[in-house]
Amino acid sequence: MKIDILTLFPDMFNGFKSESIIKRAIDGDKVSINTINFRDFATNKHKKVDDTPYGGGSGMVLMCQPIFDAVDNIKTEKSKVILLSPQGEKFSQKKAYDLSKEEHLIFICGHYEGFDERIKSICDEEISIGDYVLTGGELPAMVICDSVVRLIPGVIDDESSKNESFNDNLLDYPTYTKPRNYKGMQVPEVLLSGNHEKINKWRNEKRLKITSEKRPDLLKNKVKIEKKGIKENKNKIYIDDIKNIKVTEIKQARKTGNYKISRNEEIKAITILNPHLINGYKLKGKNGSNSVNKILIVKDSFIKKIALKNVRKKIDILNYRFNLVLSNEDDDEGTSRVLGEAEMLKQMIINAYANYLGSENLDKIIKNINYLVNEFVKAKTLQNSFLNNSKQEQRSR
Ligand SMILES: C[S@@+](CC[C@H](N)C(=O)[O-])C[C@H]1O[C@@H](n2cnc3c(N)ncnc32)[C@H](O)[C@@H]1O
Repeated sequence: MKIDILTLFPDMFNGFKSESIIKRAIDGDKVSINTINFRDFATNKHKKVDDTPYGGGSGMVLMCQPIFDAVDNIKTEKSKVILLSPQGEKFSQKKAYDLSKEEHLIFICGHYEGFDERIKSICDEEISIGDYVLTGGELPAMVICDSVVRLIPGVIDDESSKNESFNDNLLDYPTYTKPRNYKGMQVPEVLLSGNHEKINKWRNEKRLKITSEKRPDLLKNKVKIEKKGIKENKNKIYIDDIKNIKVTEIKQARKTGNYKISRNEEIKAITILNPHLINGYKLKGKNGSNSVNKILIVKDSFIKKIALKNVRKKIDILNYRFNLVLSNEDDDEGTSRVLGEAEMLKQMIINAYANYLGSENLDKIIKNINYLVNEFVKAKTLQNSFLNNSKQEQRSR
């Protein structure tokens, strides 16, 4: 992952980048974190980045030009531009998971009174780290980066992140270390038993108890799934026999764009591409119905694999059709038909598969089809000129 942070105070990030897990992640090439001073992009003589607000009022407001140009300079089609602002969506562990899957994050740190409102037009999201006002976006950027980077695979071990607070909408269980007795306070006996089944059971119970005492709001959102109805394989989790999952909204899930309702009308089923989305969301059935009786959760990577396989099959058929036309030398009608089919295939792939393939694969596939078309046209032209020559030769004899 690449993270670019647009800030007027890049030095604030020195300590952040040079300690602990963030440093390890940078050293291990899991992430690169760059700070960019957007003052460098100011085109005015004094490198001014702010001005007084129209309509009067206190404080200075960050101007459009330096931030627009700085973003323009680093943004690619894979970038997600995030504006740090007290008005944004409140940051959460779920958001951290979503962001940890991005390839390139750009954070814009505000300062002074805030931003020119038009800066929002170049941002994909606005995020707040809580209902309080800080001096600038630098601390929020560090908070978000920290929670996102530790979720990048391989940064911390999977086991630690699985049991952390907010996973499964539960808070963490209590932990103890040596000594067993500290000033009369004992470590719970079960943790000394060596019986891992019992220890896990105790920890799960504690997670539920602590959550219900401290954060009952988290439990309220938890989707209750009957264990017996769950079947799992590497890429899919089927959850059957779900009765009466009462439905309200699935707002956040919809926002990510990873949420899809299955086409199967009969079984009121839901397909969710991203397994993280299941936790804590009430689900809405097909056509707004109020219950869901089956859920299919499919890994994004698996969807991509299947989409690629389907598209490759279609390209193989196109190639076969090109060869068929070439083997029939006089088939001029076939030439325009198969070229039309190639055009239609490209359109179909763009319309139906683009979301699943990702832009990089899509580019490669379209280039591949264009290459086949060019090769076919070249071969057909050569064949035609060869045919014309031999016809002329026959006539002149
Ligand atoms: C002093 S604040 C501006 C506050 C703004 N006038 C308001 O009342 O909403 C300056 C900058 O700090 C950042 N900031 C402050 N509090 C924040 C929060 N809770 N979450 C994210 N960013 C915050 C934003 O980038 C903001 O533009």
